Amino acid sequence: MSGYRPSYVPNSHNRQPLSGGGYSRNSYGSRKSSYGGGRGRKPGSQKNAFGIRKDQIGGKLRPVDWSRESLMPFAKSVWMGLPAGSVPSPEKIQQWRTENEVLVEGSDMPAPIISFHNANLPDGFIRKFQELGFQAPTPIQAQGWPMALTGRDVVGIAETGSGKTLAFILPGIIHIQGQQITQFGQMGYHGPKALVVAPTRELAIQIETETRKFAYCMGVSVSVVYGGAPRRQQEKRLRSGMQFLIATPGRLLDFLERGAFSLKTCSYCVFDEADRMLDMGFEPQIRALMSQIRPDRQMLMWSATWPKEVRSLARDFLAADRLFLKIGDENKAATTVTQIVEVFDRALKQRRIMDVLREYHGKKVIVFVGTKRMGDTLAMMLTKQGFIAAAIHGDKEQWQREQSLQDFKYGKIAILVATDVASRGIDVKDLQLVLNYDFPQNCEDYIHRVGRTGRAGNTGTAITFFDPRNDAKHSRKLVALLEKNNQEVPSQLRMLTNNRSYGGSRSRFGSRFDNRNNRGGRHHSGGHTRASSYRPY
Ligand SMILES: Nc1ncnc2c1ncn2[C@@H]1O[C@H](COP(=O)(O)OP(=O)(O)OP(=O)(O)O)[C@@H](O)[C@H]1O
Ligand SMILES: [Mg+2]
Repeated sequence: MSGYRPSYVPNSHNRQPLSGGGYSRNSYGSRKSSYGGGRGRKPGSQKNAFGIRKDQIGGKLRPVDWSRESLMPFAKSVWMGLPAGSVPSPEKIQQWRTENEVLVEGSDMPAPIISFHNANLPDGFIRKFQELGFQAPTPIQAQGWPMALTGRDVVGIAETGSGKTLAFILPGIIHIQGQQITQFGQMGYHGPKALVVAPTRELAIQIETETRKFAYCMGVSVSVVYGGAPRRQQEKRLRSGMQFLIATPGRLLDFLERGAFSLKTCSYCVFDEADRMLDMGFEPQIRALMSQIRPDRQMLMWSATWPKEVRSLARDFLAADRLFLKIGDENKAATTVTQIVEVFDRALKQRRIMDVLREYHGKKVIVFVGTKRMGDTLAMMLTKQGFIAAAIHGDKEQWQREQSLQDFKYGKIAILVATDVASRGIDVKDLQLVLNYDFPQNCEDYIHRVGRTGRAGNTGTAITFFDPRNDAKHSRKLVALLEKNNQEVPSQLRMLTNNRSYGGSRSRFGSRFDNRNNRGGRHHSGGHTRASSYRPY
């Protein structure tokens, strides 16, 4: 009757309750879900225990009574650790952490894996690193791997393009391999042992590709599920079983509701772009999802930005003995990117983009816009002008989105015009320029957009068009960001921060969430929170 709780899992019930309580705080559930599209809205329809309307994705899910489940035991910490002779001295560890700006928090912090060799890493991984030409772990990997391999919960923050994906994938594969028996099919559960949840479809696909590279040689099966693609094929793959699953939240909830598989076997769970996952205004969906995963799981969250606003929600899903890792300064753009901000009226944008694109002729450029319509308009205009360009945004068919991104990655098109659907995580080799045609909704998005270039030690450039009439409210934060990165601050931009009507007034526009509220995020009115149907991209 009572659920199995492995005695060697110290934190299995240290967590805050995952269901019940607190859901009346807001009603995000009434928003049309961008976690895979809505199923129509019926005013007044009921909500489930998580606050999701019953006619929406996740609305039919119920909290699991874990005390009634017989969960299969699993081993949390499966890595042998560094061989005795390879453990650096405390002085060497300190020196390495200082040189690499590594900040760690938590008890019994493991030593970093500074080299691929003599680290008790699987031979298959070492061969793959050689094949890919990787010389050494990046700092987030060096410190993140042993932390994740302890089996404890981890929050890992490091700049864009610093190798966070492998920081969570490789321990996931080792985790799967470390389990003695395959749990697939046992107790009637069809489900993965490791799960990575990512906010966008293209990112989920990219993570799957990256995972396959390392999972294949270890005999670990991988699958991906995401919205916009036919359900049947994905479901068939799920039902036939896999060990490592990558998913977007909407499609995941959808399959869970349909009983296509279960997360009762999932003992390693990752949120990539964790702040985005926790801040999409879909707290009920995230709670619903987490409620379906066994409570003694290991939870890992990764991002380049970690704003204060998401930290308390994150804590609800993390055990008390969690470990924290940060490389450099969070909420800062990649140091490898030269950031140029040009302040001028929007009427001049079209002329200026032509000049910039001519200058970058033959190089890969991503142009970020604020709306889907602008994406289409601009892509069409550029094509007419003889550029090879395509647009990617939420109104495109999924196959078109994937095709455009693929063509961009392989150099068949030189210019990708994108909404923020492509601002996080997307890794395109040789991308030379990020052009912010429209300023993003907030400075975190700016950091992620800028980080599409200057990755894996390469350098890049980001040019941002800043319209004083529209964007002045971001001026103060942008100046602070540029200064943090030792970038030039144009005098017009600095002047805008002195204007009390926008950038100068912190209380009105300084907060990232204030800004988001203007675009349909968490609205506060008369002490109540309400939701809107705004879908940004
Ligand atoms: N140890 C390594 N040595 C060299 N290159 C690496 C190493 N690890 C990862 N890379 C490469 O670095 C690039 C960026 O990695 P990744 O996409 O994981 O960055 P990220 O930190 O997740 O960035 P973002 O915050 O934008 O999501 C990828 O092309 C990846 O193959
Ligand atoms: Mg990433």
